[in-house]
Amino acid sequence: MDPRTEAVSKVTVPSILERKLRGEKIACLTAYDYPTARLVDEAGLDVVLVGDSLGEVVLGYESTLPVTIDDMLHHLRAVRRAVKRALLVADLPFGAYHVSAEQAVEASLRYVKEGGAEAVKLEGGRKRSAIIRALVAAEIPVMGHIGLTPQSVHAFGGYRVQGRTPDSAAELVADAREVEEAGAFAIVLEGIPRELASSITRRLRIPTIGIGAGPDCDGQIIVFHDLVGFGFGTAPKFVRQYARVTDVVREALTGYRGDVLAGRYPEDRESYHWPASTRELFERVGA
Ligand code: KIV
Repeated sequence: MDPRTEAVSKVTVPSILERKLRGEKIACLTAYDYPTARLVDEAGLDVVLVGDSLGEVVLGYESTLPVTIDDMLHHLRAVRRAVKRALLVADLPFGAYHVSAEQAVEASLRYVKEGGAEAVKLEGGRKRSAIIRALVAAEIPVMGHIGLTPQSVHAFGGYRVQGRTPDSAAELVADAREVEEAGAFAIVLEGIPRELASSITRRLRIPTIGIGAGPDCDGQIIVFHDLVGFGFGTAPKFVRQYARVTDVVREALTGYRGDVLAGRYPEDRESYHWPASTRELFERVGA
């Protein structure tokens, strides 16, 4: 069915959980500003994540690490104004929950009250369970995130697929179980082998949302800019580009510059004109 003609039924935390029970897939995407969030919501995506990937794809940092709570709030508010149907989730950036559970609750309350977030996402497994419990106790739904967690880039020594060995796979299964036990309503599995993602998905009651984790997860998420080809580097193996926006924008910019330099833009049809009365008056006073 065309999502634009479907009745707008708001996606909620309970409805995301029900999707897993019904065996229905969950389509999630990131967004960082009003126009992209509006397009994502109108296309019928279930979850819009204001990801801290914002640091790389919008703010031009080399990693997500420099992103602040205020950066996130600025973009979250713009996305909030656009999203009507999808569940709106926002990432807690690096440093916003690493000191204490109280710090995580304070940041998340700002997301809900000032940014209109309906849930928060944070990275890490067993070591984050006390924080997840504190957030859930404060009525803030939590999406977990394990595997190749980008905020751990220095600890991992680079962006490497996780859970390739039996030991590290077992660690991730334990992490996923603990995130569920702590009360998360969904969990992102990033950069792990398909077999491991499939096994975690079968073991959990909450939905798994994969990114670079194969097709057996309950849902998928990807960065908006990767999906539409609006970036500069080589996309990771798991990305399927549905458009090449960078090429389209480059072509438009080159065309505009060429037209301005050659005097082809603007033309008369792109100009405003005086009404006849103004022309007459202007000519009469001899201006
Ligand atoms: O920051 C982000 O965009 C993310 C998703 C890609 C899962 O964490």
